Amino acid sequence: MIQTENLTFYYNESKKILEDVNISFEKGNLYAILGASGCGKSTMLSLLGGLLMPKSGKILYEGEDITAYGLDRHRQDHVAFIFQGYNLIEYMTVEENVALTAKQPPETALQKVGLEKELWKHNVLKLSGGQQQRVAIARALASDKPILLADEPTGNLDEDSAQAILNILSKSAHDEGRCVIMVTHSMALAAEADEIYRYTNTKFQQGDFGPALLTNTENLLENPAVQERESW
Ligand SMILES: Nc1ncnc2c1ncn2[C@@H]1O[C@H](COP(=O)(O)OP(=O)(O)O)[C@@H](O)[C@H]1O
Ligand SMILES: [Mg+2]
Repeated sequence: MIQTENLTFYYNESKKILEDVNISFEKGNLYAILGASGCGKSTMLSLLGGLLMPKSGKILYEGEDITAYGLDRHRQDHVAFIFQGYNLIEYMTVEENVALTAKQPPETALQKVGLEKELWKHNVLKLSGGQQQRVAIARALASDKPILLADEPTGNLDEDSAQAILNILSKSAHDEGRCVIMVTHSMALAAEADEIYRYTNTKFQQGDFGPALLTNTENLLENPAVQERESW
């Protein structure tokens, strides 16, 4: 669905963030991107979402170069973002936030993310972090875009809320056929994705966490989603 061809990007030429990256993301899958803070994960999402222009190489959406298609159009037609800070409009209610970009009725999306009806008319600031993140996801789902880019969507949340968010993202990939790309710090959550990419030194590696990371997560190897991976 969306792929990069020799994608290279830097803010300052002396420090490459991405170099000759060739990676492809398909619809119906949930992808996890892991990597140290500051390595360029958010930059990668911004490039895929048409917020930044590649320095060289290409990003193709269904085979078409998104720069030729127009980055603004690409963003409008194909991409929904979910940010760690939620990016909700603070003076609006839950329902109004979701309705902003909605192609579907906001109620449908709010039900999908399991947000209780009694909260729908509340100002978003009255909600907990986990609830606000659900509103942000409902807004992304309601916009009906084929690609969902989620930048540390569970970063501020407790374990249970994080798991709930992951389940929603996973469902939207598997049941609705979206291409969902999630940046996360959590190995446990990443292990539930269909594919994991670890990002280091301007490159992506598939399913490779390195021994140091594995020792931190004893129960990771017991996860069936991980056992199925051949690249281990
Ligand atoms: N607008 C910008 N201008 C210059 N440098 C930036 C800009 N945004 C990010 N960076 C730098 O690029 C690197 C990658 O940033 P980022 O993609 O945000 O990393 P991550 O999301 O993996 O933490 C960092 O060193 C960061 O300081
Ligand atoms: Mg980031």
